[in-house]
Amino acid sequence: MDHTETTEKKKIILSGIQPTGVFTLGNYLGAVKNWHEMQEEYLCYYFIADLHSLTIHMEAAKRRAQTREAFALLLACGIDPEKSLVFVQSHNKFHAEMGWIMDCCSQFGELSRMTQFKDKSAKHPDNINAGLFTYPALMAGDILLYQADYVPVGADQTQHLEFTRDVATRFNHNYGETFKLPEGYFPKAGARVMSLQDPTSKMSKSDENPKATISILDEENVIMKKFKAAVTDSEASVHASEDKPGVTNLMTIYSAITGKTMEAVTKEFAGCGYGDFKEAVGTAVADELRPVREEYKRILDDRAYLDSEMKKGAERATAIASRTLTKVKKRVGLLLES
Ligand code: TRP
Repeated sequence: MDHTETTEKKKIILSGIQPTGVFTLGNYLGAVKNWHEMQEEYLCYYFIADLHSLTIHMEAAKRRAQTREAFALLLACGIDPEKSLVFVQSHNKFHAEMGWIMDCCSQFGELSRMTQFKDKSAKHPDNINAGLFTYPALMAGDILLYQADYVPVGADQTQHLEFTRDVATRFNHNYGETFKLPEGYFPKAGARVMSLQDPTSKMSKSDENPKATISILDEENVIMKKFKAAVTDSEASVHASEDKPGVTNLMTIYSAITGKTMEAVTKEFAGCGYGDFKEAVGTAVADELRPVREEYKRILDDRAYLDSEMKKGAERATAIASRTLTKVKKRVGLLLES
């Protein structure tokens, strides 16, 4: 498919995903589950942010494996490479080139104020590398290269998106109108899933307690076990309320998967004990994730398919990005090769 010509009217959604860790049920019900439908309305560009991942030390073999896994995961979660663009960031060398130009448009002061830089430096005091510091400039380049309209961002990335808009505005002002200003994308639908062990905090893939999160690749028996062990309360009545965050969370999950309203869920489990209720939620989740897990395994085992999709994605991404980069180079006065 030609992304540049045939679908000009669709708005572009772009997101980068670091090749670290698998999505949780929270990511899935909050966003990933809707990807499938989003492809009809938008042009979706997703890439594995392997260049960004270099800011954290990791064994080469592990990084390679995780990059492949992340790519397979995107496809398994319903991204259709015929409709959307999926690629690995480093396969389009223009990201690095654009990153340098963006570095030169970023101020030391504003980069110093990034909370993620402060958090990550505190977490890895032995590896506060320059890439960690200029990370937002590389990210700004990722977004601006594709003239993205929307970027789905979690709370931890809103500051980086704001930074991207600042850099783009400054560039447009200094060199002439070049970049579209990207906006945050906040999906209409999407449940907020909480930890199974501490239902007052969000389910997070970095949680140290494995019982608190469901990975979308968890096997059925693991899923059932985690739901059985989910924290609830002593009232033994299935209804949502503020003082019952555990039960409310389980109901939210069930409702998001089945499409039933919270009232319908309350009715369905009236007079039912927590044991049976948890079993029903666990079963619903296991049934929902089974095809994703199976598809993931299938794709990951088919190395030829995976490689060929990566190659196609890289070619398309490069073609799109080269148009913006050429314009940018002209604007700043880099001589174009003839
Ligand atoms: N920084 C993002 C994260 O850690 C990953 C990322 C890199 C990204 N480039 C991007 C996200 C561009 C959106 C757009 O989650």
